[in-house]
Amino acid sequence: MRFAVLAIAGLSMYASAEGATIKKAQYGKMPGGEAIYAFTLSNAAGMQATVINYGGIVVSLKVPDKNGAMSDVVLGHDSLPDYQADRKTYFGALIGRYANRIGNAQFKLDGKTYHLAKNDGKNSLHGGTEGFNRRVWTPRELPDGALELTYLSKDGEEGYPGNLKATVVYRLNSANTLRIEYSATTDKDTVINLTNHTYFNLHGNGEGDILHNLVELNANQFTPIDSGLIPTGELRNVAGTPFDFRKPMAPATHINSNDEQIRLGKGYDMNFVINHVAGGGLTRAARVTDPQSGRVLEVWTDQPGIQFYTGNFLDGTVKGKGGKAYPQHAALCLETQHYPDSPNKPSFPTTELKPGQTYKTATEWRFSTVTNGSSKR
Ligand code: GLA
Repeated sequence: MRFAVLAIAGLSMYASAEGATIKKAQYGKMPGGEAIYAFTLSNAAGMQATVINYGGIVVSLKVPDKNGAMSDVVLGHDSLPDYQADRKTYFGALIGRYANRIGNAQFKLDGKTYHLAKNDGKNSLHGGTEGFNRRVWTPRELPDGALELTYLSKDGEEGYPGNLKATVVYRLNSANTLRIEYSATTDKDTVINLTNHTYFNLHGNGEGDILHNLVELNANQFTPIDSGLIPTGELRNVAGTPFDFRKPMAPATHINSNDEQIRLGKGYDMNFVINHVAGGGLTRAARVTDPQSGRVLEVWTDQPGIQFYTGNFLDGTVKGKGGKAYPQHAALCLETQHYPDSPNKPSFPTTELKPGQTYKTATEWRFSTVTNGSSKR
């Protein structure tokens, strides 16, 4: 493998012989003056992912449609101040320390109760008031064209114990896969659940809604929720319910149904229990096809759950890229994760991390296209 480093007027670019490149450019400034950068990862096929080191946010993701035309398929904002002003959507951001909800904003660990910010009714959502999505991460361009982001979350930050060192790597390959690798270590027992909160609209961001996408979820069960969207602890079979996405189904089919769970979520906003095969590795958790553009997204992960969220809280008041208002269901999220509220649910897979252990997980977004039933990468 051969690498070349080019430096032009403060901007840098790494290029590998395989055609994967990473380009750095100024994006904005924090109120204190600290510079925030945008890193654009590109492959030979023309796919491009742009990530900023504020919140590790994927601000744009350009992928080809069935005719090779590129569109940006993720929702977001146009500037750093717009991301900072938005405390509702978590567009494209890394979420931590604990993705999704913790009931009553507290949990017990080693006999001690830890209190978190109540930023979602009486519950804690997405790591608290100043979660990982609002932090400045230290960027490093890797020689293979990947982007590494690191963040040290201090002992007690947002109420969580232990100094937690988190590292996330975004890596684009030549087959139109964006791989996200998460790792972390701690110096005290703690809990952790990291994800990325990208909103996908495969037709193009700001181009209608996702209600007629075809969604497949590799899950025989989901975790039903209460009125605060906290799992009750039950694992419920999807068979015969609006949650059976084992065969491709459009969210439109049941999104307005009178099902209690759909009503509580105001649409789909549930954690699905991914069917993993023994032996580990990544499993295909989800597949979404946009019949119009022919774009297909597969989500592969080693995580036990995936939050399928149909942008129910978007209501046209959030203005996104190019000043476009994003209406309800303008996008869908597929957040790979441990189940919500696991620290309070001993029957769920554990989210505890202890000193000496390394938290390590990966999720891949694999893009392809389909034309008249035949697929290509
Ligand atoms: C997650 C949650 C939703 C909502 C969004 C952010 O997907 O499950 O309920 O809070 O984040 O708006």
